[in-house]
Amino acid sequence: MPTVITPPNFGFQCDGAARLPSVQTVTIDLGERSYPILIGSGLLNAPSTYVALPNAASALIVTNTTVAPLYADALRTALAAKYPQVHLVVLPDGEEHKTWQTLNLIFDALLVHGCDRKTVLFALGGGVVGDMTGFAAASYMRGVPFVQVPTTLLAQVDSSVGGKTAINHPMGKNMVGAFYQPHLVVCDLATLDTLPQRELSAGLAEVIKYGPIVDMIFMDWLDESMDALLARERGALAYAVRRSCEIKSWVVAQDEREAGLRAILNFGHTFGHAIEAGMGYGAWLHGEGVGAGMVMAAELSRRLGLVDSAFSSRLTNLLLRAGLPVRGPLLDATDNAGRYLQLMRVDKKSEAGEIRFVLIDGPGEAVVRAAPDSQVREVIDACCVGALFNL
Ligand code: NAD
Ligand code: GLY
Repeated sequence: MPTVITPPNFGFQCDGAARLPSVQTVTIDLGERSYPILIGSGLLNAPSTYVALPNAASALIVTNTTVAPLYADALRTALAAKYPQVHLVVLPDGEEHKTWQTLNLIFDALLVHGCDRKTVLFALGGGVVGDMTGFAAASYMRGVPFVQVPTTLLAQVDSSVGGKTAINHPMGKNMVGAFYQPHLVVCDLATLDTLPQRELSAGLAEVIKYGPIVDMIFMDWLDESMDALLARERGALAYAVRRSCEIKSWVVAQDEREAGLRAILNFGHTFGHAIEAGMGYGAWLHGEGVGAGMVMAAELSRRLGLVDSAFSSRLTNLLLRAGLPVRGPLLDATDNAGRYLQLMRVDKKSEAGEIRFVLIDGPGEAVVRAAPDSQVREVIDACCVGALFNL
């Protein structure tokens, strides 16, 4: 199978989806820690998907109460062809469970089943399961192999790729974690058939973000293909997942540990993480926070003179078509902007208490920089529900 890593702005043209092979491979190029992302339908339950993985006496599937009844048996059967013992641990479902307590359930299962340092962990689910399983794999016996089997659009286009693993802290999103790369990512598009529409929209937020930050050709394609994506046309989904993974792999290969460039993947996340933490984890979906957060970041870019209003309107319209919120919630009745600022200072990109935003420095180019609090306050006042101004 061909390895595909294309520079962001030399992407496939808009008719690419019609010509895609049934199983595509995008490789994350990280030297000895390189790994493939397989994209196709019916991959999850095919034993051949897993043949190249390391041998071990056991595997542990980590999933949750929603995904287990849908896909755990199929994965277990496929893995039984390779691993003498396949164990299962089922976590509670929800962002509010991305905690130490839930993480401990994975360690409990590993120890109860006598898993050793060759045991392979399989993250079967969305980004919450993926982030926690990756963190467990990074720490159990100081590191065991793991595989991502993402079953949400968001996880297929973003969270399963690139090796960021974490749990939340009440004061901030993803505050405790590790960089730890999987051995393989298996994006089975057929699993998206059972995804609730709200979750599909949340995933589209992370797809859309790749346009403004690096690839306006992809943004054009998204404008044309939004209806097909919402209707879950397999060809459109396959192309969206592939192009997103190509762009992410291109970024991660250059800056695995976010010394610089990788931060652009957090477009919309500074505001979005504040919304998630401020509303209480699980109230707003991650992708919904990112959707409203991208509108805020684009508006801040506009007010700083980096893009024009046509650009921010275009982005807002695309997000609206994807079924995403384009205004932030009120986090505080008396000092809403102050509460956003307080939460955003905890962001991992902050330096010495100064918030650094991913802004759009012209369509298809991102920049990470600070902005005056006064202007950030104006943006929050303008972009939250009940705001006085229209964008
Ligand atoms: P999620 O994991 O909560 O999954 C969303 C919901 O869909 C859950 O209820 C889940 O049980 C359900 N579900 C999953 N697959 C399903 C399927 N095929 N059919 C029916 N239901 C299904 O949320 P998410 O949007 O996948 O991920 C969000 C998380 O990912 C956040 O915690 C975020 O911080 C993290 N994230 C991490 C990275 C990273 O680089 N590591 C990047 C982006 C987001
Ligand atoms: N989702 C942001 C990153 O992986 O860096």
